[in-house]
Amino acid sequence: MAEIHLTDLTKSYGPTEVLHHIEGHIQDGEFIVIVGPSGCGKSTLLRMVAGLETVSSGEIRIGERRVNELEPSERDIAMVFQNYALYPHMSVRANMAYGLKIRKLSQAEINRRVEEAADILEIRQYLDRKPRQLSGGQRQRVAMGRAIVRDPQVFLFDEPLSNLDAKLRVQMRLEIRKLQQRLGVTSIYVTHDQVEAMTLGDRLMVLNGGYVEQFGTPIELYDRPASIFVAGFIGSPAMNFLPAEVKDGSVVLSNGVIIPVESPKEANVTLGIRPEHLQPEPEGAIALQVEMVEQLGANTLLHGTLQGTDKALTASVAGHATYENGEFVNFSAPASMLHLFDPETESRLEL
Ligand SMILES: Nc1ncnc2c1ncn2[C@@H]1O[C@H](COP(=O)(O)OP(=O)(O)OP(=O)(O)O)[C@@H](O)[C@H]1O
Ligand SMILES: [Mg+2]
Repeated sequence: MAEIHLTDLTKSYGPTEVLHHIEGHIQDGEFIVIVGPSGCGKSTLLRMVAGLETVSSGEIRIGERRVNELEPSERDIAMVFQNYALYPHMSVRANMAYGLKIRKLSQAEINRRVEEAADILEIRQYLDRKPRQLSGGQRQRVAMGRAIVRDPQVFLFDEPLSNLDAKLRVQMRLEIRKLQQRLGVTSIYVTHDQVEAMTLGDRLMVLNGGYVEQFGTPIELYDRPASIFVAGFIGSPAMNFLPAEVKDGSVVLSNGVIIPVESPKEANVTLGIRPEHLQPEPEGAIALQVEMVEQLGANTLLHGTLQGTDKALTASVAGHATYENGEFVNFSAPASMLHLFDPETESRLEL
């Protein structure tokens, strides 16, 4: 097991810099998720840690060692890919044993490790099958097994669940989390799925256009997003953003609605409020004109606009509720649940 230090890490392809000054300290045994939209640089960063991409500038340390110049095989890591990358002509057992054979471990040790990993993953009965005789979930387990037998210092995962159907993804997600807790191996996991990121990670590194927007626990990101980007990316349905002004100790919305806050500063702001923090209240100041209702069973989503404006507004209310299109529904918003952002820099403003 090992800590990982990423220091002022940059990656360029030709003249184009795709990762900019990445900083991060990953603790021994920690499960880190790198999350962000397509093309933000997640795989590139992971592949740099793996040694599959060169480092343009900066440093990667795994444990005590600077690994920039080390081959992938010298880094003591194991990687699990989206497409599993199993050898089709080899049995499950041979697939799992392959890396160990290359490292010239004894046959007895190879058998011991493969069978132990197969038991952990509950795939012992498939050891003599070929990959094509397995379901997607079972193949995913074999790919995990191949990583486990290596007994590495670090696991690296690149979207390992994205070929699975929704239900199996949720199941495998829990299994990966349990497995990582049991083995205690430092892990970096890449996904573009914010729910997967929130449920798996001890901490999340949110990447946007090659920059780290925020690096924190799921709850820190949810409660105190550092930017409009993080605020809109974490949480579903996404946070509402409304143009507003802070003056005389209040937030004033564009339709004149006033919400008291404890802020002495006067400024134009972007007000952020999560749909689940709008509380239905007949006297509430925030009126939503309903355009569409989504019944999700456990809760009901109201989509529409802020009264008197064309600003989109979504509210999530608990349980079943019936609303008519065109109807006005009033909400209040506790000041402690409001987020304020600078409309220019898109950074969080402290109240
Ligand atoms: N070999 C390459 N040469 C030039 N540009 C590249 C190369 N590999 C990746 N890029 C660029 O680097 C950026 C980051 O790519 P990367 O694959 O890391 O994104 P990602 O976050 O993993 O996206 P996705 O979620 O789609 O997998 C992209 O703009 C991509 O076009
Ligand atoms: Mg990728």
